[in-house]
Amino acid sequence: MPRSIQQVFSLINSAPVEKLAGFENQSVELHIKRDDLIHPVISGNKWHKLKYLLLHLQSQGYRKIATMGGHYSNFLHVLAFVANQLNWQATFYIRGHQEQPLTPTLQDIIEWGAKLVYTSREDFRGLREAPPDLPEDTYWISEGGMDEYAIKGFVDSVADLDEVYDYWVIASATGTSLAGYQMAVNQNQLKTKVIGIPVLNNADAIRQNVKHLIGEDQQPELIEGYEFGGFAKSDVALLEFINQFEQQHSIPLEPVYTGKSFYAVNDLINKGYFPSGSKILLIHCGGLQGRRR
Ligand SMILES: Cc1ncc(COP(=O)(O)O)c(C=O)c1O
Repeated sequence: MPRSIQQVFSLINSAPVEKLAGFENQSVELHIKRDDLIHPVISGNKWHKLKYLLLHLQSQGYRKIATMGGHYSNFLHVLAFVANQLNWQATFYIRGHQEQPLTPTLQDIIEWGAKLVYTSREDFRGLREAPPDLPEDTYWISEGGMDEYAIKGFVDSVADLDEVYDYWVIASATGTSLAGYQMAVNQNQLKTKVIGIPVLNNADAIRQNVKHLIGEDQQPELIEGYEFGGFAKSDVALLEFINQFEQQHSIPLEPVYTGKSFYAVNDLINKGYFPSGSKILLIHCGGLQGRRR
């Protein structure tokens, strides 16, 4: 039974913020915003990216969407689920061949009724420059949901934080989430510093994307050095950190996004990067479905 957009909105919970024990010696406070808990599927930064886009699509009468992404894409996963709930038709352009074994992500996506279009590596790259020829009734969503609707969603997501923090920290790939948090700071003239941890070797592209999305106002800081070799790459140190962190704090992580940002914050705290007395908000941006193999 399809739901309305308002019914989908009503499924989303607000994110609890948890203070982590264990950083007293370093004289900082580390708080985690559990955006992974706002919904079992529509979790993490995806809801913030989609909220205003969905309202826009509804207002324009669209019921067909198309976009592109990878075999483990958290964005496609959420989008397919939401499209299924709304009885919309979703078409996803995927790099690769139909014969490749399906990842758990793609299995869910197909079960939820989305159509997959397999493309060559070259064509996939081309889609980043220009969307495919689509029927007029189909809305093309840019890769990873990088648009002005996302920015508004992130601004909303921090509007009801109970406390003031010196730092907000977030994992960054396209930089859309980072741009959204910086926009919240700029619009509300907050003193909070926004820090992005690049999860792939693309800090310059992130900087450009952020500027494109929020203009020349105050920019966030990017702290490089925690890419672990690039997108979806990891090493023993990262995997051990994740294991130990999960055991100690009972907060699940995955190695592509949150694992790297949490590792980075822990390392920066230990190195004394944050001045004594700092209150840090580390945002858990979800993505846990992507760790299934
Ligand atoms: C779980 C998770 N965290 C962080 C990111 C990075 O977000 P952004 O592309 O907005 O920088 C993504 C998406 O790419 C993601 O799926």
